[in-house]
Amino acid sequence: MSKKVLILPGDGIGPEIVTEAENVLVAVNAKFNLGLEFDHGLVGGAGYDANGHPLPAETMEKARTADAILLGAVGGPKWDALEDREMRPEKGLLGLRSGLELFGNLRPAILYPQLADASSLKPEVVSGLDILIVRELTGGIYFGQPRGIRTLENGEREGYNTYVYRESEIRRIGKVAFEAAKKRGGKLCSVDKANVLEVTVLWREIMTEMAKDYPEVELSHMYVDNAAMQLVRAPKQFDVIVTGNMFGDILSDAAAMLTGSIGMLPSASLDKDNKGMYEPCHGSAPDIAGQGIANPLATILSAAMMLRYSLGENAAADAIEKAVSDVLDQNLRTPDIYSEGMTKVSTSEMGAAVVKAL
Ligand code: NAI
Ligand code: MG
Repeated sequence: MSKKVLILPGDGIGPEIVTEAENVLVAVNAKFNLGLEFDHGLVGGAGYDANGHPLPAETMEKARTADAILLGAVGGPKWDALEDREMRPEKGLLGLRSGLELFGNLRPAILYPQLADASSLKPEVVSGLDILIVRELTGGIYFGQPRGIRTLENGEREGYNTYVYRESEIRRIGKVAFEAAKKRGGKLCSVDKANVLEVTVLWREIMTEMAKDYPEVELSHMYVDNAAMQLVRAPKQFDVIVTGNMFGDILSDAAAMLTGSIGMLPSASLDKDNKGMYEPCHGSAPDIAGQGIANPLATILSAAMMLRYSLGENAAADAIEKAVSDVLDQNLRTPDIYSEGMTKVSTSEMGAAVVKAL
């Protein structure tokens, strides 16, 4: 049976990097006879410019019926000035995540040995790094109501957001994390701020309770400020980290830098049935958009995650990951991962090299 893959390039560097990932998918589709069917849609600034909405109804409809979604990135200064915040490109992305209930965000941070010198940390601190951050994606302070900016009686303005997690939300992300830890190194670190925030007192309680069902997983807890410190001090102490939406957002960007470039990091966002949306961890990089120099590997590796987690095509996923490693062995580097003696390539040259390696 054919599987439907929806491709949402977005804006900024999105279309440039997604084109390369699509070429890679087309190549594995033929090579492994996967029977994938591709469809395309507009989201973010591209949706706003064409349809007046960052998440056009047609795109949402396609997203609901697709088996998996590959997304580039959205957002940029062009739309930052929009008075109606609901029309911002990022709202398109949040709408997809919440509309499809993609609560389980997997963000691996893997240091490719070929890029050891691209990390800002000493080689002995990061060599062999392979950690997985599991971030809750559809709850917490990014979605809590009420929220807004209001004017108080004395005329002073006040901004406010609501930090809230329901027990069921904590349990379902906990399950994703414990299952992942079970399949990996058997270590799970739950990151919270239980010394200050009640929401995370509950979070810690529930994780502790769930650990009883996973005797093979060793659970530990860490406050988020310490976790930020430990990530740059001794990142290899971690195997799987599970945390809420905002802490996960911040920690996964920090973890990204340990591996050299955010341009190398894929992500998966899964619903309860492992249907998912796959996208690079980085944003739309407006500073380099249109120059053909963005690193497409994070998006290509996201396509590999898509094959593994949503489409059950492990051999094709392995082949893509191997091809990425091969092009790094060939010393091909986009500017973000370039170091002396390497061969500098463009976005499309990098994509073409991956297809060739396949
Ligand atoms: P960003 O991730 O877009 O860029 C941060 C830095 O990393 C920039 O210097 C950029 O040039 C570089 N970079 C990012 N991806 C790269 C790649 N593939 N190759 C080479 N260099 C790369 O984050 P920033 O600048 O904070 O946000 C820019 C816009 O993207 C904003 O509008 C923001 O809201 C949006 N954004 C969107 C996300 C998404 O679509 N998932 C996630 C994060 C930010
Ligand atoms: Mg972020």
